[in-house]
This record gives sequence, C-alpha cells and structure tokens, in this order.
Amino acid sequence: MSAPNKSYDPVEVEALKPEAIERMRAEALAAIAAAGDLEALTHVKTAHTGGGSPLALANREIGALPPQAKAEAGKRVGQARGAVNQALAARQAELEAERDARVLVEESVDVTLPYDRRPAGARHPLTTLSERIEDIFTAMGYEVAEGPEVEAEWFNFDALNFPPDHPARETQDTFFVAGPEDGGSGGGESGVVLRTHTSPVQIRALLERELPVYVIAPGRVYRSDELDATHTPVFAQVELLAVDEGLTMADLKGTLDHMVVSLFGEGMTTRLRPNHFPFTEPSAEMDMLCYVCRGESVGNPDRPCRTCSSEGWIELGGCGVVNPRVLTACGVDPEKYSGFAFGFGIERMLMFRHNVEDMRDIVEGDVRFTLPFGMEI
Ligand code: PHE
Repeated sequence: MSAPNKSYDPVEVEALKPEAIERMRAEALAAIAAAGDLEALTHVKTAHTGGGSPLALANREIGALPPQAKAEAGKRVGQARGAVNQALAARQAELEAERDARVLVEESVDVTLPYDRRPAGARHPLTTLSERIEDIFTAMGYEVAEGPEVEAEWFNFDALNFPPDHPARETQDTFFVAGPEDGGSGGGESGVVLRTHTSPVQIRALLERELPVYVIAPGRVYRSDELDATHTPVFAQVELLAVDEGLTMADLKGTLDHMVVSLFGEGMTTRLRPNHFPFTEPSAEMDMLCYVCRGESVGNPDRPCRTCSSEGWIELGGCGVVNPRVLTACGVDPEKYSGFAFGFGIERMLMFRHNVEDMRDIVEGDVRFTLPFGMEI
C-alpha cells in the first residue's frame, strides 16, 4: 500500500477550492429559493444534497487531503452543506404553509349554498309487495317466471281451456291488439291480446321447463275496465303454478296458508269456496281471514270491522287443481303429474294491507303517495 503523497497540493483539487465551494453553496441556495412548489423542491434537494451533488462529491475528495488542508476543507464543505440543508428545511416549511393555505381556500365548502334539492324518490309499493311475495316463494324453492304482456290469444285463452265462445274473450273484457288482418280495428282477428291474467305464464312455464315445475309469476295484466276507485284497466297479478307427482288440493291449501302467515302474521289462514275456472278443476275462490278483526267481528255488533264489513274474510283471488286438459295441451302426462295454481291481484292486497281507499292513488304514480311507504328493499 503506498503512503500518502506528502507533496500533494490541495490547491490542485479544484472541487475543494473556497470559490468552488462558495459557488456550489450559492447555486444550491438560488435553486432552493427558486423552487416554486414542494415537488420542485424535492428535485432541488436531490440535485444539491444527494449522493451525486457537487457538494457530496467535494466532500468525498476531502479524505485525500493532508491533515491541515483536510480540516479547512472539511469545515468549508460542512458549513456549505449545513447552510444548504437549513435553507431547504426553511423553504420546505414555507411551501407547506402555502399549500395548506391554498387547500383551505380551494377545498372549502360553502355551507350557505343551497343543497341538492332533487328528491330521492321512492319505490312503488306495488313493486315492493310483489317482491315480498316472490321472496316467500323463492325461499320455498319456486322460481320467478315471466311472460309477455302482449300475448297470443292461444296462450291467454285456448291453452287454458277457454272455449272459443267464452264471454271473457269478448271485447268488453279483453283488449285485442289491432293487426293487418282486421284492418287495424282491434276487432280480435289478429289473435293477439293484452293478457287478461297471468295464467298464460303457466302454459309458458310448462312448455319451457323440465318437470317438476314450481314457479311464481308476477306481472301486469289488462282488462277493459274504466279507472275508478275500485277498478283499473291495468293491474298487477301474481300467479303460482306447481306441477309435480302427487300434488293435491291439500298442498294448495297449505301453500296458501303459508303465504298469508308470511304476509300478515301468525294465526292467519285461508278458506276455499267452490268456483269455476276453465283451467282448474276443481276450482275455488280463495279468501283469507280478515287480518284486522281475525273473524271476531262476525255476529258481534259491538265490534264491527270496516276492513271486512264484519264478514271475517277477505276475498283474495282464484285457485284450483290444474285441469288435466291444460297439462295435456302442454304435453304433460296427466296420469303421472298433477298440480295446483292460484292467482290474485296485488292492488287489492295493497289496498287492504295499507288502508288505501282509492285505487287511482296506486295507479297515478304520484310520489307523495309512494314516499310514505318508505324504502323497503
Ligand atoms: N287467472 C284467474 C283470474 O285472473 C285466477 C286464477 C289463477 C284462478 C290460477 C285459478 C288458478 O281471475
């Protein structure tokens, strides 16, 4: 290892000359002062104090100097670096303060400005009630099925065993869709109707699905009624269809009872009264126990019930055991399979569940009507 070169002249180390150090320090201070924001200052810091900066390089030269020169150069470089670091810290504090002041102004919230006055709106109670009914059945393994509102007459009537001359087909009940065949008169020749009930979905479900079939089909239906307090030409129904091996009227009754308990609470029940529908046999009209008086107003003049007119029961809709002819029309073997179905209007249920007195309120879509039902999701 060679000994230190005693004849080494420190003056020869350009980078350590006082003027050079002074210049480095002046350049660094000027750059610091010129840094307009914190990001620029970060670059200045790297350029003037980082490992590759002139002052750092000069510092590295010191070790090669003889002792006396080493002390002097060390002092000069140290002072310069100290001054640069101090200036950096001061500028950093200055720029941070400026930034904070600017953010306070730019991001301030004027609490006196008017807030967003667009109302949040509300879901229609028909939708929420319909979804609630769907939930009851999907929890039991049913699937939600859908069908078109503009429906072939065959699905709406023929496949459901309505004879060709059935009064329900007449134009006073049914909206026929105008077609080119009838010159656009809507007189019925087009074979297309606005579905009058959700029962055509039974047919579609049986044709489209593998057996067994368990479906619940909510949807809009149309009948040519005038809009008044108790009628509307467009209303909502829920249809249920179950087709499996060995299903009976008892399964229908149990399913109906489960539904009214789920919707109206423990102790609720249903009763069936004989009726006729072409697509079910036997058929029944279904009533549910009055959810207000629970039957206690019957024969009890001291406790009259406005909800059920003291009858104890509220009419819900139609139901029955699927007519074998319907199964046959859908290619299902009635010897092997049987089923039950029911259908009812949701407006009426909404009316008595929430004491809505006029059906027009349900139809009109005024948000003042829907808002009080809240946001049941
Ligand atoms: N579709 C019938 C109606 O609209 C109701 C119903 C459905 C009856 C299913 C029996 C079975 O009145």
